Amino acid sequence: MSDNEQTANHYTKQWSSDLNFRSFVQQNAEAAKAMPSRQLPWAELFERIRKQASERTTSVYDAACGFGDILNQLAATPVPAKLEYVGADIHGALDTIDRYGVATLLKHDITRELPTRQPFDFVICRAAIHHTPDPRATFDTLVRQLAPGGTIAITAYAKKAPMREAVDDALRAAIIPMPNDEAFATANQLTALGRDLQRTKGQITIEQDLPFLGIKAGSYDVQTFIYNHFIKCWHNPAFSEQHCDLVNFDWYHPPFAFRYERDELREWAASCGLEIIKEASTEAQHYMECRSPR
Ligand SMILES: C[S@@+](CC[C@H](N)C(=O)[O-])C[C@H]1O[C@@H](n2cnc3c(N)ncnc32)[C@H](O)[C@@H]1O
Repeated sequence: MSDNEQTANHYTKQWSSDLNFRSFVQQNAEAAKAMPSRQLPWAELFERIRKQASERTTSVYDAACGFGDILNQLAATPVPAKLEYVGADIHGALDTIDRYGVATLLKHDITRELPTRQPFDFVICRAAIHHTPDPRATFDTLVRQLAPGGTIAITAYAKKAPMREAVDDALRAAIIPMPNDEAFATANQLTALGRDLQRTKGQITIEQDLPFLGIKAGSYDVQTFIYNHFIKCWHNPAFSEQHCDLVNFDWYHPPFAFRYERDELREWAASCGLEIIKEASTEAQHYMECRSPR
């Protein structure tokens, strides 16, 4: 299997109706706030797009549209009358996505330009560019599909503390070659570790910044300290155990998961002649929104 096929195969399982993550997110808006996508300024961008698309024709390319979460938000009732949405992804579960009567969904590799109409007023690539083999080249490809004065918004994984980076690489090297079901079952051990660490009472206090180790002074609960600096072991009691496993599976199993410093993303934007209009970061991801020249 090629890397691309492996990515597609992974996400075909992750977004399958068996695991039903789409319904979980739609029915548990409060729980979904724990997801990185809800902690970065995507909702503001979606509101802007919805407003513009209710007034004039507005085209959106959702590159790597996943299980349709962005479409669900852009096309929420009342569906903006002049929204023209194209979503593309390589997984085999696109048929699980509601098209709201406005969406075109294509099985397509976003590292290549779309065969259909372009350019787009908005190009969105949320939490996906780092899963492509050459994310910088993917960014250039996406920018080429942007209309003059258009907006591109991406999120990419953030680089973590060096111990966490090393553990991520080691565990990923062992988990990536596993077939889907074995990797999913293995992800349950990360869920169990996260759960037990969360149940462990007490605080860890670090008296001074330790920049070489990527640790800032402060008090941390046990799971947050270990999660942020040593090993990703996601657990959230508002998620089912299976959906916690899905989040850990999402981290450890796709063949590519590049991580970046904010400056590296800035450099991508500069080399494409884009103006950065908004940035934000969490421990997990960087958000960057840019405008192309008119
Ligand atoms: C973590 S999900 C994010 C989905 C969606 N953007 C969201 O934020 O809800 C990553 C997605 O990237 C897709 N993907 C990875 N590589 C791709 C490629 N080369 N072409 C198209 N989609 C790709 C995967 O299939 C998966 O659906």
